[in-house]
Amino acid sequence: MRLAIYPGSFDPVTNGHLDVIKRAAKLFDRVIVAVAHNEQKQGLFSTEERVSLLNATAGQTANVEVMEFNGLLVEFAAAQGACAVIRGLRAISDFEFEFQMALMNRKLDASIETLFLMPKEDYTYLSSRIVKEIARLGGGIESFVPEPVRAALGEKFAAERRISAKV
Ligand code: PNS
Repeated sequence: MRLAIYPGSFDPVTNGHLDVIKRAAKLFDRVIVAVAHNEQKQGLFSTEERVSLLNATAGQTANVEVMEFNGLLVEFAAAQGACAVIRGLRAISDFEFEFQMALMNRKLDASIETLFLMPKEDYTYLSSRIVKEIARLGGGIESFVPEPVRAALGEKFAAERRISAKV
């Protein structure tokens, strides 16, 4: 049983993440999409909301499950019995941070390999941050995120607009 962990913030999941998940699911018997719970990093969506959006999308693939984790990634990966960590690599700009993280994780636990998967070219410019900015400014995001995420972003920003209209 070969298990891989695909960790990230997923705030929120995009079509680029889903593309990487599908590729990983073909290579491994089981893939855990692991949502990092970070008290210091306030996201748009709560950890529970991110997990729920992932369950509604990536969770549909038979050998994929979604979990949240606290603390060190390598400790979570070892506790689950994973042999690999998957990270998506979109462009050279991702490389420096990813390289540093992969080597640090190797230093912490040499038994876990980091594997980089490249999403479809159409998604190389995509990021959760940009999608949130476009949605906040009222732009169309249908081709960047799955429908449950589009709807959730619509609700978030409609609520934000209602609050700022009251102030
Ligand atoms: O989607 P992101 O924000 O690029 O994901 C980064 C993430 C969550 C994978 C990374 O910050 C992480 O692994 N956090 C857990 C804490 C940890 O193990 N830090 C040391 C990494 S070298």
